[in-house]
Amino acid sequence: MATKIFAHRGASQYAPENTMPAFEKAIEMKADGIETDVQLTKDGIPVLIHDESLKRTTNGQGFVYEYTLDELKKLDAGEWFSAAYKDTPIITLEEFLTWVKPFPILINLELKNNIVDYKQLEHKVCKMVKEHRLEERTIVSSFNPESLKRVKAIHSGIETAFLTSQGIRNIIPFLHEIKADALHIKYRVLNYRLVKQCRNENIPVRVYTVNRAFRMARCYKLKCEGIFTDMPDVAYHKRLQNNF
Ligand code: G3P
Ligand code: MG
Repeated sequence: MATKIFAHRGASQYAPENTMPAFEKAIEMKADGIETDVQLTKDGIPVLIHDESLKRTTNGQGFVYEYTLDELKKLDAGEWFSAAYKDTPIITLEEFLTWVKPFPILINLELKNNIVDYKQLEHKVCKMVKEHRLEERTIVSSFNPESLKRVKAIHSGIETAFLTSQGIRNIIPFLHEIKADALHIKYRVLNYRLVKQCRNENIPVRVYTVNRAFRMARCYKLKCEGIFTDMPDVAYHKRLQNNF
């Protein structure tokens, strides 16, 4: 099976991350999946934004959890990227799932709860995925193993993936312990032995964030199950070119 290409925060090299223009470009660029980051507003609504703080990707300040959805909707989440994207709003998970549903694409919802422990985040996300009947093609990932355990307890049918930027000793027993189905690793952690160990256990390995062509080629050669890239078009052509 060819390595799947996930657009990281959408096609975030070409449009503001985690916004509709970046997601639309991911589809245009024939990505196999879209990865996006989920946090909760002050009034408990799941929204798509990477940082806990609003500073880097919006014209607001402070933290996501300090604002209601109505307040966050007034912010500009596009102009920081380029003037062409002025007035691009933050979107909710509900809006994203409604939009993505007709496209035959995988969905990776990364729960951003390793810094702020959002109450009920797992319940809210699982409920929405279920309501949209997207369980079969949704992967819920997190750096927080406790959160993944909660997801499995709520809905055992949704694939979970443990995210790590570090090498972990005895990773396989650890994944079994937290009932994670897959492993999402930072590129620097990638090695043949790890991929082989996971393959023996039927644990998909996906790698982030892979933007350089030679790194894409390495992931393809190692038959990683997926990569996360800001440039799904480059990844697509590289995969075609080398017949991986
Ligand atoms: O889910 C893969 C990757 O997005 C994890 O790191 O910081 O880009 O959300 P980050
Ligand atoms: Mg992410």
